Amino acid sequence: MFGPRLAGKVALITGAGMGQGQAAAVLFAKHGARVIVADINHDAALSTVDAIRRDGGDAFATTGDVGTQSDVKRMVEDGVSHFGGLHILYNNAGVLWKDRDKSVVDTEEHWWDRVMEINLKGVYFACKFGIPHLIAAGGGSIINIGSVSALRGFTLPQDAYTASKGALISLTKSLAVQYARQGIRANIIHPGIVETPMQAPYLADPGKRASFEGATPLGRLARPEEIAQVALFLASEESSYVTGAEIPVDGGYTATGG
Ligand SMILES: NC(=O)c1ccc[n+]([C@@H]2O[C@H](COP(=O)([O-])OP(=O)(O)OC[C@H]3O[C@@H](n4cnc5c(N)ncnc54)[C@H](O)[C@@H]3O)[C@@H](O)[C@H]2O)c1
Repeated sequence: MFGPRLAGKVALITGAGMGQGQAAAVLFAKHGARVIVADINHDAALSTVDAIRRDGGDAFATTGDVGTQSDVKRMVEDGVSHFGGLHILYNNAGVLWKDRDKSVVDTEEHWWDRVMEINLKGVYFACKFGIPHLIAAGGGSIINIGSVSALRGFTLPQDAYTASKGALISLTKSLAVQYARQGIRANIIHPGIVETPMQAPYLADPGKRASFEGATPLGRLARPEEIAQVALFLASEESSYVTGAEIPVDGGYTATGG
């Protein structure tokens, strides 16, 4: 009989106020982790903490923008001071703004930069301030969130998003190689389309929803908990020999190859 899979661990999850980050925060806490819930939306962060506490778990809310270095430093330091260490760094926060992030020829520089700031620089900042604490803890797990869009071109372009997620693949591998001997593993999950607030405006169109479902071999979209379950594996010691890996969690979408 195994005990809780994350007993004694502290996990910082960015964008944990909603969607996949919230699902992971709740799941990690059920498995014994103490969770630092970091989000730009204060009320959302508090609601995740409340949900965890209602379940008997332990969580701490901290609010800030992952694209702002001073905010990330403060969120990491406040969380680590509260719980006394850090073992799991889950870089989940990200934005998809299809109205502003289009083809390179149609995207304003300002929006390109802002998407990169959140989706890519945010991971750089979290790693910059988080990795020293993982090293101090004797090792840990970094989980980054990519996207199937980084693996395949899409007919409807979202080029800043796609490029930011592609860069995270390279960064994940570099981190895995650099820090392996210090007991830190780094992996990246590529979700398919997941039913979260991010996708809600696009999935409201029944034609778009049906076309996403039709393009997915499993014939449906993902629930946030289905991504969180893979993150739980990567966070736990069950994945002790997994580092530098890319794991699509996409209902078979990328396996179709077309
Ligand atoms: N939903 C999908 O279909 C899908 C598919 C592939 C990859 N992803 C990726 O999964 C991750 C989570 O997506 P989701 O669908 O749960 O999104 P979501 O929009 O439902 O939730 C994202 C959370 O991140 C927070 N956030 C946004 N900007 C932030 C910032 N600057 N600083 C701190 N927090 C911020 C939001 O407040 C929100 O709580 C993202 O990286 C996203 O790109 C999502």
